[in-house]
Amino acid sequence: MKITVIGLGYLGATHAIAMAELGHEVIGIEANPKRLTDLQNGVVPFYEPGLDEALQNVLAKGNIKFQENHTEESREADLHFLCVGTPQLPGSYAANTEYLHSAVKALAPFLRPDAVVAGKSTVPVGTSAVLTKVLAEAAGFEPHLAWNPEFLREGTALEDSLRPDRIVIGVNDERSAELLRKVYEPITVHGTPFLTTDIPTAELVKVAANSFLATKISFINAMAEIAEVSGADAVALAEAIGYDERIGNKFLRNGIGFGGGCLPKDIRAFMARAEELGVGQAVDFLADVDQVNLRRRKRVVDILEHELGTLTGKRVLVLGAAFKPDSDDLRDSPSIAVAGLINAAGATTVVTDPISLEHVRAQHPEFIAEDDLIKAATGADAIVLATEWAQYRDSHVPAQLAGVVANKLVIDGRNALKVEKWQAAGWRLIALGRNVEA
Ligand code: UGA
Repeated sequence: MKITVIGLGYLGATHAIAMAELGHEVIGIEANPKRLTDLQNGVVPFYEPGLDEALQNVLAKGNIKFQENHTEESREADLHFLCVGTPQLPGSYAANTEYLHSAVKALAPFLRPDAVVAGKSTVPVGTSAVLTKVLAEAAGFEPHLAWNPEFLREGTALEDSLRPDRIVIGVNDERSAELLRKVYEPITVHGTPFLTTDIPTAELVKVAANSFLATKISFINAMAEIAEVSGADAVALAEAIGYDERIGNKFLRNGIGFGGGCLPKDIRAFMARAEELGVGQAVDFLADVDQVNLRRRKRVVDILEHELGTLTGKRVLVLGAAFKPDSDDLRDSPSIAVAGLINAAGATTVVTDPISLEHVRAQHPEFIAEDDLIKAATGADAIVLATEWAQYRDSHVPAQLAGVVANKLVIDGRNALKVEKWQAAGWRLIALGRNVEA
């Protein structure tokens, strides 16, 4: 099928490449000149394992191209995917849907009446109804507009796109259902569940899923708070409750909490939208989910102050800057937030990360960004594991770093370090939600 993908950020670029991999003919539309040139040159403008190779592969095959604006060729497309961002509005919890409005207005002159527009961006429920009106006015006919939420995770984005857990489409008409069924057929032939719903449900599925995931993480982090004052172990607790299939063991890792471009913004936008709809109380609990999450970042500084006295004049190394491993994304990163709190408390804050230090240097001149792990650790009064990269979990690290650190104190903010290895190398290890002192 011939399709366009509008907006080539994380979601759009991955979706465009995945669609081309499946054999569709893809036109990607991107307004940001740097991102556009990168993609045209076969370079993915963010770190995502496997995506560069996939991009070069589809470029070589000739079934993808990238351009700044629609051209007459967009009229030949049967399906247009909207993948532009919906960031948090400044000074508010609500999502900014203005890029979606601009995207449909720019598409309107090139839209065939029988073509289908499918939104993939994460949106407040009700957005599609508003967009339909905007598009109808701009195009001069009643458009086929559908919603098709995306559930990909950074770090496994391509795999999640090509082999998703499920595909959900929200449709109002048979034409939309038919084209979306067709475009995903190369995936669904392998048995992927394909759910067809009304549009509000499809819009809600995404925020409901992300809210549930955020709630799960904050639940175990709340248990970690209880564990810390009662001598219990939140990691063992998670394992024990996780064997119950109704609960499940995923997304129960306690630590400095969730971040990134999605979970924090999505729960806030959901609260704002529910309030607008007059049912704010229904998701009041998400405010607690947010609060628990933010408290866990602060907990690291409390531990450091308890252990080191004042942080003024001290040197603290933060291992990892990205919001999770296998990503270079610093958006709302708990690691950066923790580093910021440590810095604000007066410590010289050194940050290291295998791939995102360039962004750290550009955005956070207040930290010392150091690529070399040994140099980064030299002279540190304490080390905090903030992003659980495999490099830092390696069992040789405790002995390596022991040689350059006099005060051997490590805080495991992700419960990812091998406690015995660190202890055997002479470290005092404090893990969030656990009592692991030898
Ligand atoms: C999340 C969802 O998992 C995807 O399904 C969704 O498509 C995506 O948002 C989106 O809305 O686009 P992502 O932001 O890539 O994906 O990251 P996650 O893997 O969900 O991790 C989010 C945060 O939670 C990370 O900071 C991670 O360190 C933290 N986390 C995760 C925990 O603290 N504990 C856990 O047990 C799991």
